[in-house]
This record gives sequence, C-alpha cells and structure tokens, in this order.
Amino acid sequence: MPRCLNSAALAGGCAVALGLALAQPVLAQSTPVSNVPDVLTRQNGLRVTPMSHSARVYAENCQGCHGPQGVSVTEIPTLAGRIGYFARSPEGRSYLIQVPNVALNPSSDEEIAALMNWLLYTYSGQQLPGDFKPYSASEVGLLRRERVDTAAQRRRVVDQLSAAGQLPSPAALALPRSVLY
Ligand code: HEC
Repeated sequence: MPRCLNSAALAGGCAVALGLALAQPVLAQSTPVSNVPDVLTRQNGLRVTPMSHSARVYAENCQGCHGPQGVSVTEIPTLAGRIGYFARSPEGRSYLIQVPNVALNPSSDEEIAALMNWLLYTYSGQQLPGDFKPYSASEVGLLRRERVDTAAQRRRVVDQLSAAGQLPSPAALALPRSVLY
C-alpha cells in the first residue's frame, strides 16, 4: 500500500483497490499488486480482449445500428452473412463503399478500406467471391467521393446478382420492410 499513498495520480484507483482488498482478503493476497489498468477487471476473473483497430472503428461507428456481430437492429439491413454477395459484382463492390454511413464516415480512406475488408472477411466470408480482392485505400478514396443514388444502385445490383444466379434466393438481400425504397 505505501506505493499507493505516494502517488496522488493513483490515489483514486488505489482507494478502490484497497476497498476490494478489504472486501476480498483471500483474492487480494494471492493477486500481486499491479499498476496495469485492468487489474480490477482481472481480480474479478474477467478478461480484457485486445481489439484490432478495425474492430474498434466498427464498435465506435457502426455497431450501434449494425450490432456487435453484424446483425442489425430491426429496420436496418443486417451485414452478417449477406454483404459478401455485393462483392460479387463490380457495382455491388462500389455500393458497399458508397452507402452513406460508410462514404461519409470521418475515418480515413485507409481505415475504411481496412474496416470493410475486416467486416467482409469476419462476418460474410462465406458469401465473398473466390477471387475477392481486398479494397485498397485509393479505391475507397475514389469511390466514396463519387455521388450516387445508393438506393437505386442497390436495387440494380440486387437485380443483376439475382439474374446472374449469384444469390441463393431472391430474398437473400431483402431489405427490412420498414426501410423505404
Ligand atoms: C445510424 C445507423 C447506422 C450506422 C451508425 C451505420 N449504418 Fe450502415 N446502414 C444503415 C442503414 C439505414 C442502411 C440501409 C441503407 C441506407 O439507408 O443507407 C445501412 C446500410 C449499410 C450497408 C449496406 C447493406 C445493404 O444490405 O444494403 C453497409 C455495408 C453498411 N451499412 C455498413 C456500415 C458501416 C461499415 C458503418 C460504420 C462505419 C455503418 N454502416 C454505420 C444504418 C447505419
């Protein structure tokens, strides 16, 4: 404890740690004193999972609508198990970057390219075409600055993919009923 008392900056954390130590003497004795920020979490038997940069960008920018596993809230199209289909046509590949919440997101072109590659491989790898080429930052830069009617583009892409036999069923990319196009 003297280390705690010597450091004003750590005083708050130490007070909590001290409280825990008093409340759980056995755990506190067997757990070495540490300044690692997650020490309280680990004392409670939980793990802090390191996140990749893209997972963090997703959590901060997309997850509120598209869910922690790419399964969106009602009224918003789900990404998991679906978005890879779009990558089966050049127009669909563009659409994924031009959809407003992606194109207009403040993240850099590099971050968006990494995010979309991560998202596709993580949540829709099975639907990707065998010859899928990951997005590059320069491709993203060009696509996101083009202004397009993404709702019309989506309809065209889904029709084309369906006609080309690229979808297992016409409903594979159906929109939730309440998204009005
Ligand atoms: C405020 C809610 C919201 C947030 C935040 C959001 N989206 Fe979306 N997303 C939507 C809606 C609504 C649509 C349907 C198309 C549209 O209206 O733009 C959509 C569509 C999409 C699509 C196309 C899916 C399809 O089936 O047409 C992709 C891909 C996507 N979002 C990715 C992202 C990513 C990546 C982020 C974070 C950078 C993000 N979205 C953040 C609401 C959101």
